[in-house]
Amino acid sequence: MTRTFALLSILAVLGPCSLCAQTIPPKMTITDPASYVNVFIGTTGGGHVFPGATVPHGMVKVGLDTDSPENQAGYDGDATYGATGFSQLHDSGTGGGASLSNFKLWPLPECSSFEDCTVSMDSRTVPRKTRPNGSPDDFGSPGYFATNLSTEVRVELTASRRTALHRYTFPASSRKPRIVVDITRDALNSNTEPVVNVDPRSGRVMGGARFAASFGPGRYNAYTCVDFKGEGYDIPSISEYGVYLGDHPEKYSTTFTQLYSGFNSEMGALIGFPPSSNTTHQPTTILARVGVSFISSAQACANAESEIPDFDFDRTWAASRKAWNELLGRVQVDTQGVDEDTVKLFYSSLYRTHIVPADYTDENPHWNSTEPYYDSFYCNWDTYRTLYPLFSLHDPAEFARIVRGMIDIQQHEGWIPEGRGATVPLYIQGGSDGDPILAEFFVKFHEQAGALNISADALYDALVADAEKQPADWDLRGRQADTWKQYNYIPSDIHAPGGTNTKQVSRTLEYAFDDFSIAQVANILNKTDDFIKYSRRASNFLNVWNANVSLPGHPEIKGMMQPRLASGKWSYTDPRHCSTNDPDHATCYLDAINKDGFYESSPMVYSQYVPQDTAKLIEMQGGKESFLKRLDLIFEEGYFDVNNEPSQQIPFMYHYANRPGLSTQRSREIIAQSYTTEVSGLPGNDDSGAMGSYAVFYLAGMYPLPAARQFLLSSPYFPKISFFNPVLNTTTTFKANGFKGNPKDGKGGKVFVKSVRIDGTPWKSNCYVEWDIFLKGSTVELELTDDINVTCGDAVDALPPSLSTGGYDQSATIAPILNHNFSMHDHRGYVGSWQGDLYLLKGRAAILCICALVVVAVPVYRYANRRFYRTLDI
Ligand SMILES: *[C@@H]1O[C@H](CO)[C@@H](O)[C@H](O)[C@H]1NC(C)=O
Ligand SMILES: *[C@@H]1O[C@H](CO)[C@@H](O)[C@H](O)[C@H]1NC(C)=O
Ligand SMILES: *[C@@H]1O[C@H](CO)[C@@H](O)[C@H](O)[C@H]1NC(C)=O
Ligand SMILES: *[C@@H]1O[C@H](CO)[C@@H](O)[C@H](O)[C@H]1NC(C)=O
Ligand SMILES: *[C@@H]1O[C@H](CO)[C@@H](O)[C@H](O)[C@H]1NC(C)=O
Ligand SMILES: *[C@@H]1O[C@H](CO)[C@@H](O)[C@H](O)[C@H]1NC(C)=O
Ligand SMILES: *[C@@H]1O[C@H](CO)[C@@H](O)[C@H](O)[C@H]1NC(C)=O
Ligand SMILES: *[C@@H]1O[C@H](CO)[C@@H](O)[C@H](O)[C@H]1NC(C)=O
Ligand SMILES: *[C@@H]1O[C@H](CO)[C@@H](O)[C@H](O)[C@H]1NC(C)=O
Repeated sequence: MTRTFALLSILAVLGPCSLCAQTIPPKMTITDPASYVNVFIGTTGGGHVFPGATVPHGMVKVGLDTDSPENQAGYDGDATYGATGFSQLHDSGTGGGASLSNFKLWPLPECSSFEDCTVSMDSRTVPRKTRPNGSPDDFGSPGYFATNLSTEVRVELTASRRTALHRYTFPASSRKPRIVVDITRDALNSNTEPVVNVDPRSGRVMGGARFAASFGPGRYNAYTCVDFKGEGYDIPSISEYGVYLGDHPEKYSTTFTQLYSGFNSEMGALIGFPPSSNTTHQPTTILARVGVSFISSAQACANAESEIPDFDFDRTWAASRKAWNELLGRVQVDTQGVDEDTVKLFYSSLYRTHIVPADYTDENPHWNSTEPYYDSFYCNWDTYRTLYPLFSLHDPAEFARIVRGMIDIQQHEGWIPEGRGATVPLYIQGGSDGDPILAEFFVKFHEQAGALNISADALYDALVADAEKQPADWDLRGRQADTWKQYNYIPSDIHAPGGTNTKQVSRTLEYAFDDFSIAQVANILNKTDDFIKYSRRASNFLNVWNANVSLPGHPEIKGMMQPRLASGKWSYTDPRHCSTNDPDHATCYLDAINKDGFYESSPMVYSQYVPQDTAKLIEMQGGKESFLKRLDLIFEEGYFDVNNEPSQQIPFMYHYANRPGLSTQRSREIIAQSYTTEVSGLPGNDDSGAMGSYAVFYLAGMYPLPAARQFLLSSPYFPKISFFNPVLNTTTTFKANGFKGNPKDGKGGKVFVKSVRIDGTPWKSNCYVEWDIFLKGSTVELELTDDINVTCGDAVDALPPSLSTGGYDQSATIAPILNHNFSMHDHRGYVGSWQGDLYLLKGRAAILCICALVVVAVPVYRYANRRFYRTLDI
């Protein structure tokens, strides 16, 4: 950077600036983006981020486990927690119980005898070695992790997709270096049916057990195969070996099987090695290659042998680093005038979006298939909003494989997965939120779907299965579809078997959005009847809107999403419920005592949660001015919840009220207040990269609308940012003209978008761009100003789309006109959404009719609408 700057100044002195433009290539060539990644962000303070070694979306994620109560990903960046082992499988950023952490290896430099080695987890746990500032003596970067243990063993880890490679450097004083292979202690200490075998000649350890999933009722089998090799010397033969039960290694025993291993019962193998030399000045380095499989230990061996045949640590690490750089480098930022911390925040966040879902292809124990198999969806409710729309921009090939895997699961299990971990279903949190993920893919890549081996019919069938078929266990997959179809909302007093009868209001909102996403796919496939049907269901959010309920102490904040009974009568949940202002301090997690209808966010937040129809929301909230006041109050009084995904869009919602400058300001304040490059730099769980992708979009100056072709637009934190899309072979660049840096606190600055040009032509809106720019590969030039009062522009379609204002219709020849007729029509009092007819009009003649209809329909619609809200008040 310095060199370019110097050159620029020389040129500036020497000649006209047009010369600079011609002779200096744009500084957009970050060739080693991995060097900007801090893998430790979010490893304290509840981020639960996995900082160990993995390839992008690798199955094996090898890392240091600790005895922290927050060891969801094994690790804790707080050095006060002890080190317990180096295990092969992890998730990242999850809440719920700690997951996986199977097959911990552990080096023992000194035991008085084989039999006295402290092999069980509790007895072998040691304090962390710390640096003078108190931080643990750990290092990590994409594809590599290292730590120095207080026992003076140095441990380094790297991985390929299904195999870990560990390098243990024992202190020179260690004359009998040994390594424990712990078969049983997963994160939950949940093993049953453990098996362990040691080959006395090679020292190969094979084993496996059955374990509990962390966020669901299921159990899974996992297997391992561990081989050893000396680095820099040949191990003539294993000097000592044996299996152990509890804290008792039995020398020269080779096998142990137990049908049931109860609590505290631990099993594994202990292997001893001859030192690399007979002098006490030479440390011994042992490589441990650890294959993992969900099928068998034989397959674990085969995986390891084919992926890392040579035990070459540096080659494996370099291959991983190269894969990361290739992936992260598809997004290039111009760093001129940008804090290094911002660049680090950007690439570290981008990095965390590619840890999970994990590619478990050929490791699905439930059926044989030639399709890819992905796992570690924890959970789609968290990730559908921002993670997959980000994949659309720069990683569509992997996205396509994930979609194929989801379709394959639907074809075998009946429903698209919602949560899935360790090959079994996890609890659902909201709707069937695989739907907007499949729809996101199809809306953006339907023309490439065939080439990416995705059948449109199979994808559509999978969506319809979610929307129409109620599974017997709708807590684990699908949705409460029968109830949804019958009532057009989820009543609070319908106790359907197969699921927990909670979170009815938030599920209603999710189901409505899920159906919106299906409608978008139906539209592309010319399935007109379905398009109409699912568009109608997308407006079912109206059925849980109680216009009478206001925020206590704020009569002007009127109208809330509220629980509703099957009779159509209302139940009541305090709009402050589950927020920091909740007088009852209630929680709204998955616990069965949460009976108030909302999940992980307050009614105040859910009352903004209709991404498909914000225009309608504005109308229901009394127009733009009162909508803006409500948004402000949400921030000023602490309702905005940066930890949970339903709030993610709220900072950008000012766009819909024609005040994009306020969105820019709010979103930048969120980054300034809640995201740093410290170990505690995340406001809460990273949620499998959901929060990482959210930060990437904010820093890129966008917010996506999943399953739609639009991206809300703000200004990037960089003078230039570009996305290379390898499937489309296009590069799209955003240039911030007049970029002056980023205000530290997110307030003010020359960061507001005044006008937009796309490939030199003025664009109709300052508030959104269309997917077409990424399809084509465009240059988007943003003219910046310090005037926060910018607007979306004067064009009729300058505001981002909403269903009720005719948005999202992609086909010029299909123009459905929704005749809003909200009159009550059922004795139970429920409201079928958007009753009345939906006309399908085709061709030029039809367009004339549409114009005529609009002239008549707008006042009629306004009148009908007012009547509706009166009649709804029962
Ligand atoms: C561990 O010790 C080695 C050598 O003693 C040193 O080079 C390294 O920086 C230390 N820390 C880590 C995390 O590897
Ligand atoms: C160490 O000494 C023993 C006994 O003399 C010998 O058998 C062995 O090969 C030596 N090992 C190494 C690594 O030099
Ligand atoms: C998959 O195929 C293999 C080899 O034919 C067979 O052994 C295995 O049982 C099959 N697995 C399942 C789950 O059907
Ligand atoms: C699609 O399937 C064909 C035939 O199996 C295969 O040759 C091709 O590589 C696949 N393409 C992708 C993108 O997976
Ligand atoms: C849908 O209809 C349009 C217009 O007739 C046509 O161009 C398009 O190919 C059709 N799409 C499908 C999937 O049939
Ligand atoms: C991708 O686009 C570049 C030009 O932007 C072109 O040179 C290259 O041949 C294209 N690659 C493929 C595979 O089409
Ligand atoms: C934006 O509008 C507000 C209210 O109308 C006004 O007080 C403020 O000065 C305006 N800001 C700028 C930069 O014009
Ligand atoms: C609204 O629906 C009712 C019942 O379905 C029907 O009788 C009425 O004519 C409709 N009104 C309009 C304006 O479409
Ligand atoms: C709403 O308020 C009006 C006027 O106070 C009242 O008549 C009506 O019953 C209320 N409706 C509900 C659903 O509480």
